[in-house]
Amino acid sequence: MIIRKFAPTDLKRVFEIENMSFDQSYGINMFQQLYEMGIGFLVAEHEGYVIGYVMFWIKYENQGHIISIAVDKNYRRMGAGTQLLVKAIAILALLPIETIYLEVNENNTGAVEFYKNFNFKVDRVVPGYYENGDGAIVMYIHLRERHVSGE
Ligand SMILES: CC(C)(COP(=O)(O)OP(=O)(O)OC[C@H]1O[C@@H](n2cnc3c(N)ncnc32)[C@H](O)[C@@H]1OP(=O)(O)O)[C@@H](O)C(=O)NCCC(=O)NCCS
Repeated sequence: MIIRKFAPTDLKRVFEIENMSFDQSYGINMFQQLYEMGIGFLVAEHEGYVIGYVMFWIKYENQGHIISIAVDKNYRRMGAGTQLLVKAIAILALLPIETIYLEVNENNTGAVEFYKNFNFKVDRVVPGYYENGDGAIVMYIHLRERHVSGE
């Protein structure tokens, strides 16, 4: 399995994986637009076939955000999600970012377990965050303490 940068030719396949993974979709145009905006966008490739993706960006000056991560249903529990998230965190850690956070559906216990392996902690629950009324658990990890200029 390799982790590499997303290329526009992966768009259809990424959209397919998103569709099988979430009730609510960003839509294929949003993926294209986010990519053109220069967000972090990686895919996992297994024997030449894209099986997962992660999208991330810097939301505020010192805060990284995982926008979305998903692995094809038929290829889960093989470590692809872990490899994608490890790489995304490593890239964000090269920047002066203190915290990475994400939102996950409160009913998505599998994903919460997945994130806990990375030491993500629960920050708070946002009721009604998703269109269908489900709440979101906001999770975060600290990468480093605030840099104070002059130190
Ligand atoms: C969450 C997701 C990306 C994990 O991808 P993955 O490639 O299956 O994850 P990994 O194989 O790297 O899993 C690593 C560990 O995370 C935990 N984990 C992953 N999925 C889990 C699940 N469904 N239930 C419980 N623990 C889980 C396990 O500890 C697992 O280790 P193990 O397989 O040795 O037990 C994948 O399940 C997915 O695409 N889900 C649908 C989309 C989604 O929920 N995205 C995240 C929400 S924002």
